[in-house]
Parts: sequence; structure tokens; C-alpha cells
Amino acid sequence: MSAIPVVEAHGARIPQIGFGTMTLKGDVCVGAVKTALQMGYRHLDTAWFYGNEKEVGEGMRQSGIKREDIFVCTKVRETHLMPDKFSQSLGESLANLKLPYVDLLLIHWNNKDIPFKTSVGALCQAKKDGLAKHVGVANFTTTMLDEAWAVTSEPLVCNQIEVHPFINQDKVLATSKKHGMAVVAYVPIARGKVPGAEVLERIGKAHGKSAAQVSLRYLVQRGCIPIPRTATPAHMKENMEVFDFNLSDAEMTELKALNATNMRVVSPPHAPVWDTP
Ligand SMILES: NC(=O)c1ccc[n+]([C@@H]2O[C@H](COP(=O)([O-])OP(=O)(O)OC[C@H]3O[C@@H](n4cnc5c(N)ncnc54)[C@H](OP(=O)(O)O)[C@@H]3O)[C@@H](O)[C@H]2O)c1
Repeated sequence: MSAIPVVEAHGARIPQIGFGTMTLKGDVCVGAVKTALQMGYRHLDTAWFYGNEKEVGEGMRQSGIKREDIFVCTKVRETHLMPDKFSQSLGESLANLKLPYVDLLLIHWNNKDIPFKTSVGALCQAKKDGLAKHVGVANFTTTMLDEAWAVTSEPLVCNQIEVHPFINQDKVLATSKKHGMAVVAYVPIARGKVPGAEVLERIGKAHGKSAAQVSLRYLVQRGCIPIPRTATPAHMKENMEVFDFNLSDAEMTELKALNATNMRVVSPPHAPVWDTP
């Protein structure tokens, strides 16, 4: 397996497939992270809220892969965006991971009651303190991106958002691009709803690939960085093998048409008012 391509944004070099870890716990998480890294993954996605940073760190150490060869991202929750709480959360994340810094630190969800100057200020301070190589955001809408960029002192290298064939995210993709940000695509196989979907299965068959691989390839060709999660080694391998085939323009158009399904998988009570297609 050749090296995974990287997406560059404001000096960050982000491997174009990441390993999602939400819901992975205990020994399953340690084993999955270790196996994924040994298989060739070099980008890990965790969060303070996932409650698995200790296991992600342990998996990193057990893998034998050099720290500097791994791109690790964690996140600070919307409840912890005031400066004191922000540094408490980040301190806990670094202690859990047993790392002096992360490669990417994100605001996990915005808190509408805290001005961007304060929350983004705390985020930027973490970078200035050497605790994060790069900083970015997650779940930001077009308006939020513009407002955050207006006050940030450091480049926001990515917006981590829900992207897969069943949702139209054109507006937020365009605004992220306008700011030179990478888009990290979460729930890239729509949390299990991609396997079995007729169009994806049919296109996959034509390339000798699975529906999940078609979804991930669609995201790669749209310039995104998918971060699929799996505890199944066969799926892990499959999810990395998306750089050896191309979807045609006609296939991309057919997949793009599925955006009209308008299926948003993740929208908790603290979610913002999302951009409409
Ligand atoms: N920033 C945010 O607010 C946010 C929100 C949600 C998620 N995320 C991040 O994004 C990551 C991915 O999202 P997700 O975990 O919710 O959903 P996902 O990756 O779209 O879907 C995960 C599900 O798909 C299955 N799967 C994985 N690969 C497969 C394959 N090749 N074939 C068939 N089934 C497959 C997995 O089951 P098996 O284990 O059986 O393979 C699992 O049930 C998360 O882990 C997290 O790191 C971030």
C-alpha cells in the first residue's frame, strides 16, 4: 500500500484518510488504533468528549509508529470554550494521550453564548503555547466561518463537518474553500447507511470496489478528508484502498444527485442553524 496523499491547508499537511474513533472504547479502541497505524493510517481523530483519548494514546504507543509520523486531532467541547475551561480540557486531553502537543486542535461545537473573540482566542492561545501545531473548527456554518475568520489571530486550517453523498454541503464547502481551509468529512459512510445503497453498490461493482469505498472516493475527489470509523480490520483495510481508482464525471454527477436525499445524520440540540442547500 503506497503512502496516503496529504491535503495542505495553511501549512498543515493532513493525511487524506483519517481513522475515526468515536464510540471505540477500552481494549477495542487500543487494538483498533494500533492495527490501523500498523496498516498505514497516519491520521487519528479523537475528542475529549469521546472518552477514549487514553486508549488512542495507548494504541499509538503500541503501534511502534513514530510520534512525528502520526497526525493526531482532538477537540474541545462547547461547554469548555471559556479560556480557563478551555485550557483545563486541553490539559486533560494531552494528559490522556500522554502527548506534549496535538497536531490539530478543534472547537468541537460552537457555543452561541460565547463570542468568537473569546473561544477562538482560547483556541489560538493553545497554538501559541505550543500545545497544538494547528487549530481549526468543527460544525461551523458559512456565517460562523466568516465571523471566526474576522477575529482569529491564527489560520483555521480545517472545518470538520458531516459530508457524504446523502447531504448537500455545497455552501459550507465553498466558504471553507474561500478561507483556504481543508474540509474533514465526518460520518463519511453515513454511519452505515452507505453499504446497500443501490447507486453506490452499482458504481462500486463496476470498479471492483465496495459501496463504502465509492463514498470515500467521492469525498476524496471532492477534495475532502474522510475519517471513517471501524473496529473491523477488513473494513479498515478497505477504507484505505480508495486511491487506486477514479470515479468518472458521470459517476460523480450521479452520486452528487443523491445529495437531494437531505439526510443529516448528526444534529444534536447544541447544533447551530445549519446552512440550507
Ligand atoms: N466533529 C464532530 O462533531 C463529529 C461527529 C461525528 C463523527 N465525527 C468523527 O467522524 C468519525 C466517523 O463518523 P462515524 O463513526 O460516526 O460514522 P461512519 O464512519 O460514517 O460510520 C461508521 C459505521 O460504518 C461501519 N463501517 C465502517 N467501514 C465500513 C466498511 N468498509 N463497510 C461497511 N461498513 C463499514 C462501521 O461498522 P464496523 O465497525 O462494523 O466496520 C460503523 O458502524 C467518528 O468516529 C468521529 O471521529 C466527528
